Amino acid sequence: MSYARPNIARIAGYTPGEQPKGQRLTKLNTNENPYPPSPAVIDALRNFPAERLKLYPVPGADGVREAAAELFGIDSKQVLCGNGSDDLLTIALRSFVDQGGGFAYTEPSYSLYPVLADIQGARKMPVALDKNFMLPENAAELAAGATLFIMARPNAPTGNSFPKERVSKLCREFPGVVWVDEAYADFADDNCMDLLQHFPNLVVSRTLSKSYSLAGLRLGLACAAPELIAEMDKVRDSYNIDMITQALAIAALKDSAAMRENVRRIRASREKLRSELQAMGCEVLPSEANFVFVKPPRPAAELFQTLRTRGFLVRYFNLPRISEYLRITIGNEEDMAAFCATCRELFSAGE
Ligand SMILES: Cc1ncc(COP(=O)(O)O)c(C=O)c1O
Repeated sequence: MSYARPNIARIAGYTPGEQPKGQRLTKLNTNENPYPPSPAVIDALRNFPAERLKLYPVPGADGVREAAAELFGIDSKQVLCGNGSDDLLTIALRSFVDQGGGFAYTEPSYSLYPVLADIQGARKMPVALDKNFMLPENAAELAAGATLFIMARPNAPTGNSFPKERVSKLCREFPGVVWVDEAYADFADDNCMDLLQHFPNLVVSRTLSKSYSLAGLRLGLACAAPELIAEMDKVRDSYNIDMITQALAIAALKDSAAMRENVRRIRASREKLRSELQAMGCEVLPSEANFVFVKPPRPAAELFQTLRTRGFLVRYFNLPRISEYLRITIGNEEDMAAFCATCRELFSAGE
């Protein structure tokens, strides 16, 4: 017997990527950034007036909203802050999907989306990406009856992006809210922020976890028309962003040049890794994110284990359509060189 609501008792919950304890493993499994955050963030942490913690933080994280709005060229009324973008995704389900209501999301994609649907008691409406993992042309038709449609662009775990015109088409044709999860957009060639001026039903979310090297801080940003933000503002916890996070996030957003320099290095390593793995006989999907999605010349599940014994933790998903692939986060230059040397050795030894 469970005391929980039936839809909670029934589900397993979300399984985050492993955070190894104690073992010396090179972490290439959760798309963290290998480089440190901006020195301005580290200064803000050192100089944080700890005695102020006796007070509540600014409820709406106004300073963060303003810094983000300035960076994205939008109004601060168009920004909502979350305790990571995962918190914003929860707010999305609670704001826009009734219990029993339809929730559409692309598949394969971020494995949290269906879990959030189960928690909310929503009707899951997965929309299959096409054979190249692209958003299908008729996505709106496939999502008929849903009130919220979430996709990741660039997609995770596949790493590819899809034509922006497909997003516009969906915004035009889908009568509910279209949410573009842009957790990896800083690593991509383009993004959907400029579409906000055309579509009152569009939300674009970002995070400081990946490109800003701040996964441990927990700060996500949702950008949309002021009317949509105002609805979600009613749903979030009153103080969902703590005072330290607000101070550090403002410092990070004001020094986006430091983020861009790290992104430049990661993109260069990504392309190098892609061509080296291709030369070893792997199929590597084009990536616009800080990871690559790789079909190795031997069973992925087995290679995942072998790599682990060699000290490299990557991500394997035993799920339909992607069970033959490994997702490899881009680490620093030395880690990537060591990773490639190990792969070369394993593939030539047929191990
Ligand atoms: C597509 C996608 N969205 C959101 C997140 C979560 O981001 P955050 O750390 O901001 O909660 C991830 C994390 O892996 C992700 O892959």
